[in-house]
Amino acid sequence: MPYQRIVILTGAGISAESGIKTFRAEDGLWEEHRVEDVATPEGFAADPVLVQNFYNGRRKQLLSDAVKPNAAHFALAKLEQEFDGELLIVTQNIDNLHEQAGSNKLIHMHGELLKMRCAYTDILYPIKGDISVDDRCECCGMRGALRPHVVWFGEMPLQMEDIYQALETCDLFIAIGTSGNVYPAAGFVRQAGISGANTMEINLEPSAVQSTFSEHRYGLASSEVPRLVAEILSVSL
Ligand code: NAD
Ligand code: APR
Repeated sequence: MPYQRIVILTGAGISAESGIKTFRAEDGLWEEHRVEDVATPEGFAADPVLVQNFYNGRRKQLLSDAVKPNAAHFALAKLEQEFDGELLIVTQNIDNLHEQAGSNKLIHMHGELLKMRCAYTDILYPIKGDISVDDRCECCGMRGALRPHVVWFGEMPLQMEDIYQALETCDLFIAIGTSGNVYPAAGFVRQAGISGANTMEINLEPSAVQSTFSEHRYGLASSEVPRLVAEILSVSL
């Protein structure tokens, strides 16, 4: 039976072949940095220069010519264009490679690298360069008020109500390139299963929550995702 409502969760693995390091690989971002230092509100309070520099570096890399969407991002954009039903991509990634590939129905649950936020007013601003701790915020005039628009450990991920609403009504849930270590995203498969959806994992290796999925495909996202998208479109047309 063709699917009507699909929710797709993506993680760092979908951007790995675009040249952006994942978090938990042997050469991953969390091997080079302590999570507590660069991805918590306490780390930011203790050393804002270190934290701003960490995200300034990641932003510079994202904007470099070397980083481009890969076949998996493009396949998901094609699915959005050609699929007859509803499709929502929920990404844990803070890069903008889904948008660059052409996806529009997208929730950035962990924030966006190309936005900064006033810590006092929550007003968002686009940012392409570096954020300095000496910058004054446009809205409040305070120095040091601007922070990356990124969800840190201990903070609430974004648009959770919209995400759960979609999970409660979907008939297919696909997780792509995520290790299943970080909640609440790692729990989405369980919610989708309770809703009666078929659940599918695409990853290089079994994730921490692999036993919760009904179907698994292990391999590169750039091969597995275009193949799956072709299958979904062939039955939905
Ligand atoms: P939390 O602080 O309640 O829990 C974090 C959990 O992660 C804890 O169970 C902790 O033991 C575990 N953890 C700590 N370091 C880890 C590591 N290196 N690898 C795997 N697990 C580790 O926070 P939470 O509610 O789970 O997270 C809040 C949200 O912030 C989550 O959605 C998370 O993904 C997000 N976040 C985003 C970024 C980012 O850079 N985009 C970084 C960190 C967290
Ligand atoms: N194709 C498919 N899967 C891949 C590829 C690839 N080319 N390369 C890596 N992977 C898989 C890895 O095997 C791993 O299971 O992608 C997964 C990436 O896992 P993590 O590095 O843990 O990234 P992610 O799950 O997105 O992390 C979740 O944790 O640190 C926080 O907020 C941060 O959003 C992040 C969250």
